Amino acid sequence: MTVDFSALKTLQDKSRDRHILDLFASDQNRAEAFSVSADGLLFDYSKTNIGTEERDALIGLLETAGVAKKRADLFSGEKINDTEGRSVLHTALRNIDGGPVMVDGKDVMPGVKQTLARMDDFATRVRRGDITSHSGSPFTDIVNIGIGGSDLGPAMAYLALAPYADGPRCHFVSNVDGAHIADVLDGLNPQTTLLIVASKTFTTIETMTNAQTAKDWLVEHVGEEGISKHFAALSTARDKTAAFGIDPDLVFGFEDWVGGRYSIWGPIGLSLMLAIGPRHFAEFLRGAQAMDTHFQQSDWADNLPAMLALVGLWHNQVCGHATRAVLPYEQRLLRLPAYFQQLEMESNGKRVAMDGSDLPFESGPVVWGEPGTNGQHAFYQLIHQGTRVVPCEFMVGKSGHEPDLTHQHTLLVANCLAQSEALLRGRSLDEARAIMAKKGLTGDELERQARHRVFPGNRPSTTLVYDKLTPYVLGQIIALYEHRVFVEGVVLGINSYDQWGVELGKELAVALQPVLEGSQSADDKDGSTRRLVDYLKG
Ligand code: F6P
Repeated sequence: MTVDFSALKTLQDKSRDRHILDLFASDQNRAEAFSVSADGLLFDYSKTNIGTEERDALIGLLETAGVAKKRADLFSGEKINDTEGRSVLHTALRNIDGGPVMVDGKDVMPGVKQTLARMDDFATRVRRGDITSHSGSPFTDIVNIGIGGSDLGPAMAYLALAPYADGPRCHFVSNVDGAHIADVLDGLNPQTTLLIVASKTFTTIETMTNAQTAKDWLVEHVGEEGISKHFAALSTARDKTAAFGIDPDLVFGFEDWVGGRYSIWGPIGLSLMLAIGPRHFAEFLRGAQAMDTHFQQSDWADNLPAMLALVGLWHNQVCGHATRAVLPYEQRLLRLPAYFQQLEMESNGKRVAMDGSDLPFESGPVVWGEPGTNGQHAFYQLIHQGTRVVPCEFMVGKSGHEPDLTHQHTLLVANCLAQSEALLRGRSLDEARAIMAKKGLTGDELERQARHRVFPGNRPSTTLVYDKLTPYVLGQIIALYEHRVFVEGVVLGINSYDQWGVELGKELAVALQPVLEGSQSADDKDGSTRRLVDYLKG
């Protein structure tokens, strides 16, 4: 059933002038009551303008939208991606201790486990030096060639889990800009480099172009015979990997029920497994599996993905805040905002509902961010004093991995908490005046300077706290956000699992290539494109 945000909008209208601090003043227990903790994670959403009434109404949306039924459909392999006629079963990839998962009457788990065992065996032998390069040397470097979901997941997780990386070094090439692959290959020894072509479809133009460049590089330095030893593929398209010349024993396949942006849990995670080892990769899966169980079994008010989703819906669809900043206070989560950008924007950036009708409310938000404290010295100015409200999602670990630098970790945590506190409290004009008076200013100049130093405050944020960024915790966090996206998508009534919006640009790029090369005319193009083509060719 289509949800209706009007009751929530009425509540928001009523509470528009309410200060979040007043909610704390009227409820001594607010911080506890407006947070969810489970399995070592704490999600605090008390620094938002959501009170008991708003929360009840938000939870009501889950009932109206039938989220519980859809959640059961998701986990049981129903074809909920109905514009592509597919199940959505990335959860099966981490169902390592769970029961059967049926698709079209067949349990997919034996296949999942078999592929995982093959990955494990391959990674173990590469890491040990039992699988070697054409020249018989152990592989020292891995290059993952992929884009979007075939790049962002392993690239993000490889950085995130650097303290656990004791295997070959990993590099990631995604952009069709030749500079990307040139720069990566530049520092590498072809004799000891394993090239992994990661592409679900094995047709993506950027990946196939980069794979061909890598092949040329390898053939030039190692010879044609090197291809079967130095290339592996992660794909659903075995015919195409064979046509490229990849040894079938080095192809790790998966099914079409794994969406690109949800694929890190299976073969697309191979580079990560090579780096951190199968044992740590299994912990990563276990963290996600634990989140799956939590999501399925917890009541809505105690359910991390559900509450994260509802806070998101409140800020975007009810309050009208069009963007959402993801702000990890963890340098190793450098690529997490980009990962969430694809996860959320490719999933929920849809303008029609499941039945093809126009979406009667806004689609998912613009997601962006950068680790703290770096962002503080860049864009936080706008978050604190700009005219638009940007809901912020902070995240921070209780401890880091550097035992000798705990004082720096304390400073990091202090900064994280200080930012959400500053957003909440702000600084009043009177407080700013007092500061200026102390500096000796008076009259109009005091007033003018004070106004620049006012922080409106009452700006919403949430904070996710975890113990330490281990493989298990990273698995939990990614699965938490995946399910958040799912819940938001179900409430909005959209298909979170297709991505038709990326197609048109791809088609036009293919058509423009011969125009730029001069073999076709630009006459059918619009005036701007024609002129740009002329200018670029000139
Ligand atoms: O351009 C969109 C997209 O299809 C993503 O959804 C996907 O993650 C990416 O391209 C890469 O696709 P593939 O793994 O098939 O190369």
